[in-house]
Amino acid sequence: MLSFAPLLGLLSIALTLGPQGVAMAQSLRISTYNLRYDSMPNNITVSETLSALPDPLTPPTYYGAKGEQPWSTRRVKVYQHLDQEGVILAGFQEGLVRQVNDLATLFGDGWGWVGVGRDDGVAAGEFSPIFYKKSAIELVSNDSFWLSNTPFEPSKFPGAGSFRICTATHLVLKTDPSRPVSFTYLNTHLDDQSDDERRLAASLILARARYEAYKTKSPVIVTGDFNSEATGTDSGAYQIITGEIAPVAINATFAAKYAVPSGTLDGFTMLDLKAEVPREYISGEYATYTGFNAPGDASVYTRIDFVYGDSTKKWTADKYHVGSSLTDDGVLASDHRPVIADITLH
Ligand SMILES: *[C@@H]1O[C@H](CO)[C@@H](O)[C@H](O)[C@H]1NC(C)=O
Ligand SMILES: *[C@@H]1O[C@H](CO)[C@@H](O)[C@H](O)[C@H]1NC(C)=O
Ligand SMILES: *[C@@H]1O[C@H](CO)[C@@H](O)[C@H](O)[C@H]1NC(C)=O
Repeated sequence: MLSFAPLLGLLSIALTLGPQGVAMAQSLRISTYNLRYDSMPNNITVSETLSALPDPLTPPTYYGAKGEQPWSTRRVKVYQHLDQEGVILAGFQEGLVRQVNDLATLFGDGWGWVGVGRDDGVAAGEFSPIFYKKSAIELVSNDSFWLSNTPFEPSKFPGAGSFRICTATHLVLKTDPSRPVSFTYLNTHLDDQSDDERRLAASLILARARYEAYKTKSPVIVTGDFNSEATGTDSGAYQIITGEIAPVAINATFAAKYAVPSGTLDGFTMLDLKAEVPREYISGEYATYTGFNAPGDASVYTRIDFVYGDSTKKWTADKYHVGSSLTDDGVLASDHRPVIADITLH
């Protein structure tokens, strides 16, 4: 029998390369950043903060600030960092509704966002929102599910510290409008107290990601604060999402809704993007959680915030960078650092 494989190979090259043989895939700069919830609200508006910023030509009092500062001080630094980095898609964690609104003000009309408060599915409690630059990314749809035994209603896993949520989006990357690329993006924040919750959460997210990879035949990206490292006693979620250990049983309604035909995408997992980037393009800091400790005090440092790409690999991981939350004035923008990655979607 004649093999069409060589012909298909040529066809696929013709489809992915432009007239001069230039790859037509599109690149995306994404970040995940746990904001630290606004634990000391002071009613200062964004415009008040902006107009009170110090003269940029005057040196600061180096490390003058110590410890956690109010969100009203931290928020501009969060925005400035991501804006300067040229991020076009940003997942956050721990944002109370007033923090999400502040970010919407700072990012401005050129950005859209989705997400709901995890405590009621509207505005109560922390959000895991997704912000996107509208000139580069189009939102097709969004939804949220809870990381519990009843994922379609605001709910808490028994033994978890809080209600936990995942924000899901179908997006189109259109930096090259002549060749838009569809993809799925999920952003989340797993529990800080229960590894069982984290294991269930990773199992739900993996099932949803696999369904999206099957259904859309497009890349799936997951970001989040997993509240646990990649190794060690509390690393169940990481091990499940990356396929090192098997998922746990999930809600049957959810499993049915996001089922794929048997024999399809059997070995599906999410890949830790940091391990997929050529070593010379991984830079910045290692830890993503630093606490609000003084500069140089690494006693609580851990790597618990991740970017994952799905194992069908219709993407390439180009760069990976952990930014700094600390500025010379001593202000820590958060007790986490942002993770910033460049991903080419094919
Ligand atoms: C902020 O405003 C609220 C509502 O007006 C008020 O109850 C609260 O005391 C204010 N907090 C501060 C720190 O000014
Ligand atoms: C996100 O999804 C909700 C629920 O379907 C919908 O009401 C809302 O309009 C969507 N948000 C945007 C910005 O499209
Ligand atoms: C699964 O989740 C749905 C929706 O959240 C809920 O109605 C149902 O009772 C759950 N099933 C079980 C067995 O808990």
